[in-house]
Amino acid sequence: MSGLGKLRVAVIGAGAAGLCAARHLLSRPDTFAPPVVYEVTKNIGGTWVYEAKVGYYDNGLPIHSSMYRDLRTNIPKEVMSFPDFPFAKHLSSFVHHTEVRKYLEEYCHHFRLWDHIQFGTTVASVTPVRVKNGWNGLAWNVTSNNGLDLSKSTTERFDAVMVCNGHFYDPYIPTIPGLEKFKGTLMHSHDYRSAEPLAGKSVVLLGAGLSGLDIAMELSNVDAKVILSHGQHPLTCPLPSGVQQAPPVTAVLDDGSLEFKDGKRAKPEVFLMCTGYNFTFPFLDEKVGVKVQEHLVWPLYKFLIPPAYPSLFIVGICRAICPFPHFHIQSQFVLSVLDGSFSLPTREEMEKDIELDIAARRARGISTRHILKLDSEQWAYNDQLAQLGGFQPLPRFWSNLYESNKVFRARDMLNYKTYNYTLLGEMEWAVHNLHGQQLQHPLPVEKQI
Ligand SMILES: Cc1cc2nc3c(=O)[nH]c(=O)nc-3n(C[C@H](O)[C@H](O)[C@H](O)COP(=O)(O)OP(=O)(O)OC[C@H]3O[C@@H](n4cnc5c(N)ncnc54)[C@H](O)[C@@H]3O)c2cc1C
Ligand SMILES: NC(=O)c1ccc[n+]([C@@H]2O[C@H](COP(=O)([O-])OP(=O)(O)OC[C@H]3O[C@@H](n4cnc5c(N)ncnc54)[C@H](OP(=O)(O)O)[C@@H]3O)[C@@H](O)[C@H]2O)c1
Ligand SMILES: *[C@@H]1O[C@H](CO)[C@@H](O)[C@H](O)[C@H]1NC(C)=O
Ligand SMILES: *[C@@H]1O[C@H](CO)[C@@H](O)[C@H](O)[C@H]1NC(C)=O
Ligand SMILES: *[C@@H]1O[C@H](CO)[C@@H](O)[C@H](O)[C@H]1NC(C)=O
Repeated sequence: MSGLGKLRVAVIGAGAAGLCAARHLLSRPDTFAPPVVYEVTKNIGGTWVYEAKVGYYDNGLPIHSSMYRDLRTNIPKEVMSFPDFPFAKHLSSFVHHTEVRKYLEEYCHHFRLWDHIQFGTTVASVTPVRVKNGWNGLAWNVTSNNGLDLSKSTTERFDAVMVCNGHFYDPYIPTIPGLEKFKGTLMHSHDYRSAEPLAGKSVVLLGAGLSGLDIAMELSNVDAKVILSHGQHPLTCPLPSGVQQAPPVTAVLDDGSLEFKDGKRAKPEVFLMCTGYNFTFPFLDEKVGVKVQEHLVWPLYKFLIPPAYPSLFIVGICRAICPFPHFHIQSQFVLSVLDGSFSLPTREEMEKDIELDIAARRARGISTRHILKLDSEQWAYNDQLAQLGGFQPLPRFWSNLYESNKVFRARDMLNYKTYNYTLLGEMEWAVHNLHGQQLQHPLPVEKQI
């Protein structure tokens, strides 16, 4: 700290990441004033607030959540939860999305977060201000409005800002030559809610991420004829009935048919893009220098901190991670930076660190758009942040159980969500299938350090 009073921190967004940030800030009243959490909607939960409508809310603002009616989690509750707040005991391991929203509401009650959230408030700009005696000589102007009447805006001053605005709501539509010539129904998974409207139809799904795969299963259940078009290695696990694979769609021809990379064609009734989302930080002052290029948000030290403005934190931008525990770790790391228990390297050192990290990933053949996908590296990342920040790492079973679920998913995407997990201690856990049979661990349990 710097001889300041208590640090004032703004949190943008009351999804899982913003709630987690607020929970940790509130736990340290010695150092931090109660945070101000800005939330554009009327609810907490972000992605987990299912909205049956698509497009816009009644007030004209765009619908945030990409949730669909029948979605169940793809991570067992035993490792999806915040480590300090387990899901209810009676629930099975893979819960319906409504249970996650309830869980986040309970988290909010338990840690008394409600009073600190300003609902119906859009953050419109976040601007750094040089000050004499602020944290590192820096403060932040956060300007917000109600999203409807832009003339009525207020500016508040903070010592630090945690950006928790999510990144699964602005559809990424790849450039496909001739796309405007497609004559059927063109949609993105952001606007997918349920399978029935597509029952019996011919559908090309583009992208075999978790949305593409999960929606393919839903469509199979209503007898849609699905072509799953994607650029990965062909999937070898059993696929839902009626689902075929194809290479990526490369063009739409004059007659409206889709052409695949192998030259084959199809003329589906529906072209459903499950091609992911764009990052967007429309409120962030250009001065801060955080850029988004090909799904990479950059430059950020530890995927979190712009070196030139180290009291701004962009929480939760990594992909292919276990989100809630990741937020839990990042939030505590942010606190350790702000309270001085971890001293950041100099700006130059952080810039060098980022450069080397990205270069190392590129050298391993990782393309720019996949740099933020931490995947199995997330565990070393989490442990490193905990070590630097001097706080508790995740319990030791976490990574093994999470990674094992990924193996089960790759083997048996049709059934892995019917399994139940049981925790047996700091290291051990068991898993049973629908028939009550205990399954073998697919990965060795790491040795106690
Ligand atoms: C279809 C789908 C399924 C998923 N399934 C799983 C799963 O099974 N398990 C799992 O762990 N994760 C899953 N995820 C990932 C999920 O995104 C994370 O679990 C988590 O919800 C991310 O939280 P967040 O707070 O980062 O973002 P969000 O939940 O998107 O919350 C961001 C919040 O910020 C608010 N906001 C945005 N901009 C502003 C602004 N300018 N001013 C004020 N407020 C603003 C938004 O209204 C929103 O409430 C899934 C994601 C999707 C899209
Ligand atoms: N609980 C659940 O069951 C569930 C269900 C759905 C989604 N989710 C979550 O929701 C989040 C978003 O998932 P998502 O699948 O929507 O997005 P995503 O993970 O970004 O996946 C998008 C996919 O589309 C592919 N793609 C993009 N452009 C393409 C093109 N032109 N041709 C072919 N393929 C293309 C991408 O391939 P490249 O990477 O190679 O570009 C990627 O595989 C994830 O966190 C996921 O875990 C969870
Ligand atoms: C920050 O906000 C204050 C109060 O609204 C204003 O006077 C000041 O000019 C702003 N500074 C910047 C850099 O935006
Ligand atoms: C999304 O990102 C792509 C490039 O990654 C860009 O071409 C496109 O304009 C972006 N879309 C929006 C709506 O910002
Ligand atoms: C999983 O646990 C739930 C709740 O305890 C139970 O209802 C369900 O039958 C269990 N399923 C399996 C496959 O054991």
